[in-house]
Amino acid sequence: MRVLGMETSCDETGVAIYDDAGQGQLLAHCLYSQIDMHADYGGVVPELASRDHIRKMVPLVRDVMAAAGCQPGDIDGIAYTAGPGLAGALLTGALMARSLAYAWGVPAVPVHHMEGHLLAPLLEANPPAFPFVALLVSGGHTQLMRVDGIGRYALLGESIDDAAGEAFDKVAKMLGLSYPGGPAVARMALTGRDDAFKFPRPMLDRPGLDFSFSGLKTAVLTARQQTADYPNKTADICASFEAAAVDTLIRKCIRAMQETGLKRIVLAGGVSANKRLRSELAEALKPMQAQAFYPAPEFCTDNGAMIAFAGCQRLRAGESVGLGVSVRARWPMTELSAIA
Ligand code: KG4
Ligand code: ZN
Repeated sequence: MRVLGMETSCDETGVAIYDDAGQGQLLAHCLYSQIDMHADYGGVVPELASRDHIRKMVPLVRDVMAAAGCQPGDIDGIAYTAGPGLAGALLTGALMARSLAYAWGVPAVPVHHMEGHLLAPLLEANPPAFPFVALLVSGGHTQLMRVDGIGRYALLGESIDDAAGEAFDKVAKMLGLSYPGGPAVARMALTGRDDAFKFPRPMLDRPGLDFSFSGLKTAVLTARQQTADYPNKTADICASFEAAAVDTLIRKCIRAMQETGLKRIVLAGGVSANKRLRSELAEALKPMQAQAFYPAPEFCTDNGAMIAFAGCQRLRAGESVGLGVSVRARWPMTELSAIA
């Protein structure tokens, strides 16, 4: 089954074609990032995002079809991100996907954006077997899940305020770094000392698997205001912040693995591209003889491949929608139906 996937939940227009024949393979993928357009505003402007998805989607679909050597008759279904995300951006993608599926006479299937992220490591050569713990860390979500199969998700813990990626973005903004903040803070942190500032590791002193990042963000703001030779200390602030954020995430991952008794953990979403997070988690897992799984770096952040893959699994299970188009800006992943 060949599935065209379309992602438009935020500021990336992603299109890909996944074929599940044999071991399954990604035939082609294209991504257009709106980062430059939103950078002037220091964050995503929803109306501009929607309009740009409309401009870019059709040319990207053409590119992907050509790169995969596919004609419309070769496509068996179309998957699109139906939520969570920006309502207007989601609607543009959903309408284009639904219309194209109608024109080509194939089924259309709505995909949950975070399920796309979660399943992205299954596109890799050495995919994790179920069950596993998953840490989903993006600009809008920080969630620990127990995953027993596709659609079998139990929420173990989540952020009670800011998402981890959002904390990176806000810290970058405070320090005058570029948007999106994660890569900018991580780059700056490379030349800083991570013990220069003692930032809090929120919620580690309490039992449970929830996160909180707003106190850490405030601590960074206070440090910036009270540091006499700021901005000379920007790299030190970034390194100390990144160390605190990563430490918090990892300790909760270990706690979740101990509580569930699972030895496999999947990290996905934009923040899972973070190199410090990957290397420190690898160290922490060594004594437990546990293993971490990640998407390829290009599939950590938003992309069409993860939507094509997740949509293919759901189409195979017989899911599809009628001609109506609806999206959900908020959509708990635990509401998804179990298919494997
Ligand atoms: O998954 P994603 O592309 O979009 C959402 O679904 O939100 O994640 C974007 C988030 C942004 O907050 C961005 O700053 C963060 O991922 N991010 C990173 C890194 N690369 C992207 N955070 C930390 N370190 C990185 N290397
Ligand atoms: Zn995302």
